[in-house]
Amino acid sequence: MKILVTGGAGYIGSHTVVELQQQGFDVIIIDNLSNSRASVIGRIAAITGITPEFHRFDLTNRDACRTFFETHPDLGGIIHFAAFKAVGESMSTPLKYYRNNLDSLMNILEGMKESGCRNLVFSSSCTVYGQPDELPVKETSPVKEAWSPYGNTKQMSEQIIRFSAKAHNLSSIALRYFNPIGAHESALIGELPLGVPNNLVPFITQTAIGIRKELSVFGDDYNTPDGTAIRDYIHVTDLAKAHVTAINRLIRKTSEQSFEVFNLGTGHGYSVMEAIKSFESVSGRSLNYKICGRRPGDVEKVWADTSYANRELGWKAEKTLDEMMASAWKWELALSENNELH
Ligand code: UD1
Repeated sequence: MKILVTGGAGYIGSHTVVELQQQGFDVIIIDNLSNSRASVIGRIAAITGITPEFHRFDLTNRDACRTFFETHPDLGGIIHFAAFKAVGESMSTPLKYYRNNLDSLMNILEGMKESGCRNLVFSSSCTVYGQPDELPVKETSPVKEAWSPYGNTKQMSEQIIRFSAKAHNLSSIALRYFNPIGAHESALIGELPLGVPNNLVPFITQTAIGIRKELSVFGDDYNTPDGTAIRDYIHVTDLAKAHVTAINRLIRKTSEQSFEVFNLGTGHGYSVMEAIKSFESVSGRSLNYKICGRRPGDVEKVWADTSYANRELGWKAEKTLDEMMASAWKWELALSENNELH
């Protein structure tokens, strides 16, 4: 069965392509390479032995999208990752985020409406909950007013999918990721932040390898046991496997609902300091860091109630924080030995 993966050359997309191919799916990638590299396609093939069909174009291009769907009438499902995702950048260029993230989604939904493809898995985020009133946060917890245009595009996308799926007889699942980290065990694919990383783990590994001078810990005055902010970190391979489970659920018509939502996390919250300690213990390196002020827009603490996803999807995240950090470090070491991806 053919599955279209948009953003399949990106961080979570590439790991999902690998898992899909290993489960016997025939994968087609659309990616404009705006935040990824063409060499990832060859690296996916090096892991699985299969080169995925690859189309380079921008999904906001309505004509290109239409042509793609006309020439691919036999898609069994779509996993839609392609989107801009930098929270800070979205604050200064909101229209860029709305235009890109929403236009591309609507072009895909129109393509689905016209073609025979009925199954959509969407890449959403725990950011839709803002700072939840109750922890761990459940899927039924209220969606709070967005703190960033990026987060707002995820909220809006979920609603666009919910109404379109109902009107056009589609089946859809939005997966709300907590904090994906780590890399494939082969160290052939992983996160490739362009420029200075925004996210914690790439910043940690780049500091340890000497690319960055020191890590800034954003805030130690939160209402948490050690004062630093708490997140639910999940290994990218565990996350990728959940996408295969979700697409299978849609293909097998396990649920009658046209739109479902699942949290993807481990259910455990770790503080920034705990993440640093874990990294230091698995890498054997001591990290140069300093405590700074809070980062504007950060929530204090968030972690998932995963019981619904565990029960309904029959999926559970397996990797520990130490395993996640070890794989992120192995990836950084592989990158430093190989300039191809820089
Ligand atoms: C946020 C969003 C997430 C989104 C992601 C995209 C929430 C809860 N999460 O993740 O949905 O997909 O951005 O980028 O809104 N930190 C430091 N120093 C650093 C970097 C980070 O101390 O140099 C801290 C942050 O303050 C935070 C934690 O590390 O407490 C994790 O930060 P990060 O990796 O950027 O992810 P989120 O901001 O949680």
